[in-house]
Amino acid sequence: EWGLRLRTAATATTAWTLARFGDPVARLLRAPWRDNPYPIYERIRAQGPLVRSKLGLWTVPGRETCDAILRDHRFGVRTSDGRQGDPQAAAAGLQLSLLELDPPDHTRLRRLAAPAFRPRKLAQYREHIEKITHELLDAAVERGSFDLIHDLATPLPVRVISELLGLPAVGAEQLAHHGAVLGGSLDGIRSARQLHRMRRSAADLETMFAELIEQRRADPGTDIVSDLVAGLDGERLSSGELVQLCTLLLVAGFETTVNLIGNGTLALLEHPEQWDRLRENPDLAEAVVEETLRWDPPVQATVRIAHEPVEVAGRTLSRDSLVLVLLAAAGRDPATHSAPEHFDITRGDTEHLAFSSGIHYCLGAPLARLEAEVAFRALATRLPGLHRAGTVSRRPTTIIHGLSALPVGTDKGR
Ligand code: HEM
Repeated sequence: EWGLRLRTAATATTAWTLARFGDPVARLLRAPWRDNPYPIYERIRAQGPLVRSKLGLWTVPGRETCDAILRDHRFGVRTSDGRQGDPQAAAAGLQLSLLELDPPDHTRLRRLAAPAFRPRKLAQYREHIEKITHELLDAAVERGSFDLIHDLATPLPVRVISELLGLPAVGAEQLAHHGAVLGGSLDGIRSARQLHRMRRSAADLETMFAELIEQRRADPGTDIVSDLVAGLDGERLSSGELVQLCTLLLVAGFETTVNLIGNGTLALLEHPEQWDRLRENPDLAEAVVEETLRWDPPVQATVRIAHEPVEVAGRTLSRDSLVLVLLAAAGRDPATHSAPEHFDITRGDTEHLAFSSGIHYCLGAPLARLEAEVAFRALATRLPGLHRAGTVSRRPTTIIHGLSALPVGTDKGR
């Protein structure tokens, strides 16, 4: 949804042409900058706190200004006349619930969805998440070398969120496929084939959740879907709202966490001294999570739309201006972090905006943190000889930033 809007503002061809002429945002959409966007963020930062792209977007690299915009109620996620920010996504039948709503609808839905993700509630799942992690590692280690993305980082969040939602375990591969299709489309829809695949995935998920919701209405269980169906204080969501919310929870639940585990593991393996620190003290797993979120976050940016003229960093943005809030650049702001380009799991200043800020602050942050912490701890304690064993591949996407393959060896004897 974030990137779709980005793409709406820029057709593939103009982006391509502008990239050649050095427009920073256009460059972010293309390899190799897409794979390593950090130098582009620094170029934007050097131009000031608010930089206009020829694609018609304003970009914001600094932590303070990003945070201020995300918390400012004069910005929203829809245009001022209430249209969904992205007509392409709507046409493809994809509605991402909370992420695409402004208050008061957002406030109502968020209140109903929030209890399921409270840290205290999630702490009950820790043991279960550990069990799934160890099962996946048992199977992977058996083979000696494995692909960390395919064998751990993807199936762990898929299984966890499926179980929390009360989906049957069968079909995890299929869910991962739908997640990849919908996650990949965040950068925009580039072809009729992609649109077709996206429609099919959105429709499949809709059918699946509509059935599940009916079942839970008739026969409630202890899962999140049952809680959402039951509502809160007499307030209930419509069937359409429930389907959209479940789809968001499913897709947001694993398309991002897979990249937190993948990006963090790669960072550790590329900085052996940091890996050694974690091996010596696995309690640093939580710090690895925070430093990865600061240094190489799974969601690089989000978009806001000015609902009225707003002054930002000394300039006035007109109504309906699109602002690209560079969450990943905020994590490397030299005004907030010392030596921001260094991956250092023992640094104190890990403040980041990887989970956004303000009313859309990631609902699943406690769950993502818990899963990734369990994964890093398990890798450090069980596989001290972990190392890269082949070519790393990157996802061809800009907004979602992560790996499609990370082959590793375990060197049992090392
Ligand atoms: C919202 C990142 C994991 C559910 C967001 C936003 C970001 C984000 C940046 C806000 C976007 C904006 O402000 O426009 C991440 C990252 C994750 C992660 C980096 C993993 C490392 C999860 C998980 C779940 C989840 C595990 C649920 C199971 C949501 C929901 C929203 C959201 C429901 C919408 C909240 C709202 O609009 O009020 N996430 N997320 N996320 N996330 Fe996450």
